[in-house]
Amino acid sequence: MSTATPTFDLVIAANRLPVDRVVGPDGEATWRRSPGGLVTAMESVMRGREGAAWVGWAGEPGEAPEPFEQDNIYLAPVPLSEDEVRRYYEGFSNDTLWPIYHDVIVPATFHRGWWNTYRDVNRRFAEAVAKVVSPGGTVWVHDYQLQLVPAMVRELRPDVRIGWFNHIPFPPVELFAQLPWRRALVEGLLGADFLGFQRTADAENFLRACRRMLGMTTKGDTVVFTPHGSGAQERTVRASAIPISVDFRGLDQLARTPEVIARAKEIRESLGNPRVLMLGVDRLDYTKGIRHRLKAYEELLHDKEISPPDTVLVQVATPSRERVEAYRQLRQEVEATVGRMNGEYSDIGSPAVQYLHHGYGREEMAALFLAADVMLVTPLRDGMNLVAKEYVACRTDLGGALVLSEFAGAWHELHQSFVCNPHDIAGLKQTIMYAINTPEPERRRRMKALRRRVADHDVRRWAERYLEALEMAPRKPQRQRLQHDQAEQTAHSEDRANRAVADLASETGGR
Ligand code: ADP
Ligand code: F6P
Repeated sequence: MSTATPTFDLVIAANRLPVDRVVGPDGEATWRRSPGGLVTAMESVMRGREGAAWVGWAGEPGEAPEPFEQDNIYLAPVPLSEDEVRRYYEGFSNDTLWPIYHDVIVPATFHRGWWNTYRDVNRRFAEAVAKVVSPGGTVWVHDYQLQLVPAMVRELRPDVRIGWFNHIPFPPVELFAQLPWRRALVEGLLGADFLGFQRTADAENFLRACRRMLGMTTKGDTVVFTPHGSGAQERTVRASAIPISVDFRGLDQLARTPEVIARAKEIRESLGNPRVLMLGVDRLDYTKGIRHRLKAYEELLHDKEISPPDTVLVQVATPSRERVEAYRQLRQEVEATVGRMNGEYSDIGSPAVQYLHHGYGREEMAALFLAADVMLVTPLRDGMNLVAKEYVACRTDLGGALVLSEFAGAWHELHQSFVCNPHDIAGLKQTIMYAINTPEPERRRRMKALRRRVADHDVRRWAERYLEALEMAPRKPQRQRLQHDQAEQTAHSEDRANRAVADLASETGGR
């Protein structure tokens, strides 16, 4: 029997596989959905697609499990030793790059040893990719953990097309310049044919880094350079913004199911049917502005602008990167603050803040979104923030209000939200009260516009646009084709939005 490794026309490379392997106390191994926006988005793009592979880490140190198939996707686990998890994942990715790429909200740590391991692990990913991609196939690399992979894959497999998408911000050159390995990172990325970013500002930051730090020439959204090595030919790489999104249709349908609607009602009942239910859903990450949000909320309680049981805040704080010191500190601080607020402002049976430190299924998340009158999305810096878009997609009833930080990528698309600057606590308090007190017709008008935007620019369209840009790079995709797609999308989404309104009218007896 042949044991040759199968090959695929499309290969995704991301730090994590869509599922994590978890070993329970009884020694039994199970697979659980991996955390984060990257997996949420890519999982819906890949669902049902044939002839594709996903190369990534299975979430636990040690030997990698054998490759396996899930939902028609070939999953190829990459092993990371305990030491590599500390140096490559917790160290260089999340304690060096993450703070630099998020405005240095906490100081970045620089260790040469971490960099060496980052390079070694990126090489391992590149080799795993090179093994499974078909001749002339497409490789789509994701995020800041794998910035050296594009050039490494090109070296091993010059026959394939290579794209990279950054799910997080790309920093201004003044911050990027702090990295002792800045040149190697840019050269690693320039192994790609197309580099995708969340915002135009991110793509511009990257192009500026090419000019200022490597003396390269940029022309519009392309960079022209000659790679090292004898006989290397001039290359042109395109860097442009293609903002990521959510599975609007899937979430919209899920939020309409009787089970989710009933569960949303049950959640409200179990909280004593508050007049205002506020919700925060974030990985427990210092970029998400949870401390600022709690401060504003605590002051509103103190000022008696709000009080339980009339108003309740549910904060879902998803466990994340728990061995990195800044994350440990954040957890301690957040939990101490919640404890203090509840001690001060709760009554028996009516907490001021309901704090939940768990992962949930899609249905429960949709029910929470549907139950929440005000969604608080207040990051200090965030590449996109899919939670904001998921909330909008779940509000089939046109209810709810989205308070959104201007420092989230999502704000650049969701202008009808209630915008806030989370650093301005007085302003944040005002925005929260404004969102609560805005009359229903105005809230519905805003939600309708938000839904139209997310419906028009859903994750499927994002993936199509990305893959088309990659195929055409360094040229831009043909305008005509884009216009055709746009027209088609608009027609679909108008239809969907109209249906949403019609459904609502019928639910409320046309009132
Ligand atoms: P990030 O990628 O930084 O974590 P995003 O907001 O872009 O932030 O994406 C987070 C994703 O994780 C969303 O799809 C959200 O629904 C999901 N998520 C967040 N917290 C939980 C949780 N406790 N249980 C299940 N899914 C969660
Ligand atoms: O979007 C940023 C990101 O790091 C993604 O790579 C990932 O989906 C998510 O946040 C979760 O982080 P981690 O993989 O470190 O748990």
